[in-house]
Amino acid sequence: MKMHTRVGIVGAGPAGLVLSHLLHLEGIESIVLESHTREYVESRVRAGVLEQGTVDLLNAAGVGDRMRREGLGHGGIELRFNRRGHRIDFRDLTGGRTITVYGQQELVKDLIQARLDAGGQVLFEASDASIHGLETTTPQIRFCKDGEQNEIDCDFIGGCDGFHGVCRPSVPEGVLKVYERNYPFGWLGILASAAPSSDELIYANHERGFALQSMRSPSITRLYLQCPPDEDIAQWPDERIWEELQLRLAGDEGFHLNEGPIFQKGVTGMRSYVVEPMQYRRMFLAGDAAHIVPPTGAKGMNLAIADVRILSKALAAYYAAGDDTKLNQYSATCLRRVWRAQHFSWWMTSMLHHFEADGEFDYRRQLAELDYVTSSRAAATSLAENYVGFPIE
Ligand code: FAD
Ligand code: PHB
Repeated sequence: MKMHTRVGIVGAGPAGLVLSHLLHLEGIESIVLESHTREYVESRVRAGVLEQGTVDLLNAAGVGDRMRREGLGHGGIELRFNRRGHRIDFRDLTGGRTITVYGQQELVKDLIQARLDAGGQVLFEASDASIHGLETTTPQIRFCKDGEQNEIDCDFIGGCDGFHGVCRPSVPEGVLKVYERNYPFGWLGILASAAPSSDELIYANHERGFALQSMRSPSITRLYLQCPPDEDIAQWPDERIWEELQLRLAGDEGFHLNEGPIFQKGVTGMRSYVVEPMQYRRMFLAGDAAHIVPPTGAKGMNLAIADVRILSKALAAYYAAGDDTKLNQYSATCLRRVWRAQHFSWWMTSMLHHFEADGEFDYRRQLAELDYVTSSRAAATSLAENYVGFPIE
């Protein structure tokens, strides 16, 4: 089948779905292609922290109802080291800005529903997507669905297909410059039916490695442990996970880490990655398709949403008056925020993880940095303003 749309979007993650929704609000038609099933993308457990600017954007776009009801507003986080907790008070340090804990898959469910309610097209189980005609003014996306070959002619393509997608590799060799760094560890993440042990997130630096307590609801805890990058999850029976979490998150007297049945676990590698520019002709890369941050700064999903907000405004200016100034500035506008988040995510990662190759000196240096960040208002303000995020242009 042959189709035409203004913006063909590859990927129904946060970037692709928010882009399609924002374009709809601007009166611009789009089609979203997704290789997985709706059930799969709605149950994929990933990010959990939304910056203030992301929450404001989702509310203004009319997709924040359930997030406002079920999301958990947090006015700070705790940094734990030497078994003691130190609170970073976001509200106080940033003039009232906060974060919201709301599972990525919950947001994805809300966005899919909003697109379908508005009559939008989200084509699930679209396999073998490929990009063609990038040198022309009507690039095409070809894909297979229900055994049939399809082709969409587009004015523009939104490459929102994550790190392993097809859009970025479709750019001719030599155009994109890659900047990257890999870390010698990953995160083992679990979801457990247990009440969170603290109202706020706890980031712990421990000699045995980093640990993080987060949450999804008043009865579901999300916990992470630093582990080798290619760790076999079979090496981690539930008892071992709890034992390690109890050691690494041990705190002041009175702190008790609640345990409960573990119903999801997985290991993720960690990397920092950026391609420049985030555009080739009429194809624009957004979210993980263009950049990856280590999760310690909780920035990945927020960056993806900021990218597509900038892209939707640029496309709106183009369709309203033929003005392509903002489209031409898309990459540079996004990259400024991306590199700020890259630095912050690298910094949080370096300060909180155990680096095997490092010695006692480096551990002491980390503790000195944590002591500074938790005792100097200037240093704490820098962490807080980065964590709650900068307003989206
Ligand atoms: P994705 O969510 O990867 O979506 C891309 C979509 O494209 C997918 O649905 C995929 O199936 C689809 N796709 C891929 N290839 C094709 C193809 N060829 N054809 C059609 N469809 C295709 N970020 C935060 O902001 N805060 C956090 O707290 C946080 N914690 C994290 C914790 C973990 C353990 C992990 C792994 C990530 C975390 N992140 C966090 C990062 C965040 O999850 C990602 O940055 C976010 O998912 C990026 O969204 P995206 O839409 O760009 O990409
Ligand atoms: C999460 O809740 O999944 C989460 C929270 C903070 C992070 C990363 C992940 O830095």
